[in-house]
Amino acid sequence: MSAPAKVSGGVTGPSRARISARTLRTDRWWLTPLLTTLGLATFVVYASIRSWVRTAYWVDQYHYLTPFYSPCLSDSCVPGSSHFGTPIGELPMWIPLGFLVLPFLLGFRITCYYYRKAYYRSVWLAPAACAVAEPHARYTGETRLPLILQNSHRYFFYAALIVSLINTYDAIAAFHGESGGFGFGLGNVILLVNVILLWAYTLSCHSCRHITGGRLKHFSAHPVRYRLWTLVGRLNTRHMQLAWTTLATLMITDFYIMLVASGTISDLRFID
Ligand code: FES
Repeated sequence: MSAPAKVSGGVTGPSRARISARTLRTDRWWLTPLLTTLGLATFVVYASIRSWVRTAYWVDQYHYLTPFYSPCLSDSCVPGSSHFGTPIGELPMWIPLGFLVLPFLLGFRITCYYYRKAYYRSVWLAPAACAVAEPHARYTGETRLPLILQNSHRYFFYAALIVSLINTYDAIAAFHGESGGFGFGLGNVILLVNVILLWAYTLSCHSCRHITGGRLKHFSAHPVRYRLWTLVGRLNTRHMQLAWTTLATLMITDFYIMLVASGTISDLRFID
């Protein structure tokens, strides 16, 4: 994001209207920030608990692996769940088994342009809504630490591409029947929908849009990049919806696999 002009004194600065009330709005302007905070907090709490519990993340009969534990590269992973081997030895309980992917996943989401807007407004109240004074005295934007690190988003995008490839591999490996051949159940549908939406979210990223069509002076001279940029641009208009939908599908996928892996429910099988 471009650096904004510094405003000395925030809403109390000399150039601002002298209004003592925090806002003159009488509508429920606080509802959107409240719902956003609750939505983000739900995901953070759920993902943190599930990442640390180390139970019910792998269904051996059908090869379902929850995305929160993928790739599982440690000797501590249950047998069968390590699609890419176990180059890492035993891990102490305080390190999540999906530790390799979690920082990149979190980094990608936290620095996402949409999520920035969401938590700047709802968590930092900067500002909470139009015509609502923010509580901060100064505004320096993303021009200094720690917020200048938001500019690392383009690098997290490349990591997210690798994570999406790994999730795709997991979804394909899950077409596994109990007797060893091809199998197909409700878990496959959930894994597949999740991975398709994850690709849609990743490819709708603003960095992806810039990579495909940024800095081009003449689109006519680069028809392939122009076409890709157009496609990514279409997805990009749905970025906010995809950001929320994929938070939900990640939790639903993990929750379903947890229920099947723990024996709470049986997977609905179409082909076994
Ligand atoms: Fe949201 Fe890149 S802008 S993922």
